[in-house]
Amino acid sequence: MKPIFILNGPNLNLLGEREPEIYGGNTLATIEDALRNRAAALGVSIDFRQTNHEGVLIDQIQEARHAASGLILNAGAYTHTSVAIHDALRALSLPIIEVHLSNIYKREAFRHHSYVSPAATGVICGLGAQGYGLALDAVAEILKASAPINRSPHA
Ligand code: DQA
Repeated sequence: MKPIFILNGPNLNLLGEREPEIYGGNTLATIEDALRNRAAALGVSIDFRQTNHEGVLIDQIQEARHAASGLILNAGAYTHTSVAIHDALRALSLPIIEVHLSNIYKREAFRHHSYVSPAATGVICGLGAQGYGLALDAVAEILKASAPINRSPHA
């Protein structure tokens, strides 16, 4: 099966150092490690990336069209600004889960609007690093439910 892409946008490389009271103490590398273990337990593979550049994120979302079986996206601040990311997501026919570590609805008003949500299958926010794991469970479950049943010819 194709990997599940887990894409992270701007400033998420600073997790652990940046506003830990909001984003928690986990680094992105720790989150990636935990997701690799969880993916192995679920029998799926992941392709985990981070970029600070909007165009690179769009290229990666476009790549997911043919190279991924599902997409987990924390677009960081581009969530609230990027029509281009919204458009790129609308070109996908994959399960898409939007993740935010913080509860964006509890924060400044400019974070209350997401250009990602209307293109997403589901949204998880406010659960910290745990949200990524829950998103992976959800994508694995959706893929399992949509997989063709492998019937033996002799059954
Ligand atoms: C974030 C929330 C965004 O508003 C913010 O710009 C981020 C991180 C989160 O994971 O909580 O960079 O996506």
